Amino acid sequence: MQFKHFLKFNDFSREEYEYLFERARWIKQEFKQYRQYWPLVDRTLAMIFDKNSTRTRLSFEAGMHQLGGTGIYLSTHDTQLGRGEPVEDAARVISRMVDIIMIRTHKHDTIQRFAKNSRVPVINGLTNEYHPCQIMSDIFTYTEHRGSITGKTVAWIGDANNMCNTWLQAAEIFDFRVHVSTPPGYGIHPERIGLSGTGHYEEFANPRKAVIDADLITTDVWISMGFEVEAEQRKKDFAEFCVNAEMMALAKKDALFMHCLPAHRGEEVSSEVLDGPQSVVWDEAENRLHTQKALMEYLLLGKLNAGN
Ligand code: CP
Ligand code: NVA
Repeated sequence: MQFKHFLKFNDFSREEYEYLFERARWIKQEFKQYRQYWPLVDRTLAMIFDKNSTRTRLSFEAGMHQLGGTGIYLSTHDTQLGRGEPVEDAARVISRMVDIIMIRTHKHDTIQRFAKNSRVPVINGLTNEYHPCQIMSDIFTYTEHRGSITGKTVAWIGDANNMCNTWLQAAEIFDFRVHVSTPPGYGIHPERIGLSGTGHYEEFANPRKAVIDADLITTDVWISMGFEVEAEQRKKDFAEFCVNAEMMALAKKDALFMHCLPAHRGEEVSSEVLDGPQSVVWDEAENRLHTQKALMEYLLLGKLNAGN
């Protein structure tokens, strides 16, 4: 049987995202009207977490429940995965018992090895390298507030981490530009992300220059999960990379602010910006639910006609 995985943002085409967004809009509307929609009755999602999570766990577990199915939480701390069972063996076993699998882990290579041995679709719930579910939600959110992101400028301020890498992949799919500003030594590695060219991004040493005329400013924590030993050094190196009101004022007047959350107020973003009128961070978080419901529906049922 043919099926797809969702491991990187560029695993899907623009046309597939347009379809997913149309479905997510409809699914969101039905949810808001308290109308039951159960296309995945009897389907089971396994969620494997090797790192902490609030939004990803909740949006997948609640999302699967709301579609009529069941979500099962597995942690590497209390399964055999944490005691050295090979990823390949775990994939063979788990994928014989459930219909779809979401994984949050460290190395992207781990999720690739898992997917290669899985009989069912695998979704990336975050790796050190990518966070495609979050960017799917972010672009959906941008579109809800401002229309198409094509041709716009996104300013990425801070660490060139999994979120930044995924924005760069998305820029090629949706044809927008990313201004990336990172401290020295924390820059992007376009060759590792598999970008097809250099036309969709530009690097800036000074974050204040990167945000000029931007349509969207976005940032993320300075210390991603798994990088805690570097915390003290990173706090010093990133000190000038806080998105504050002064920085927001340099962007377009109607620019949005996004952050995947959890945020560290006073580090990568000021409370004034996070809680301010340009911030859409709570919508971004909520839209994880609606877009991932569309994603699971698509991976399990394929394309459906609009309105059902
Ligand atoms: N944004 C996000 O993925 O949040 P969690 O780490 O809480 O899942
Ligand atoms: N870059 C962060 C995102 C958390 C949702 C991390 O990987 O920890």
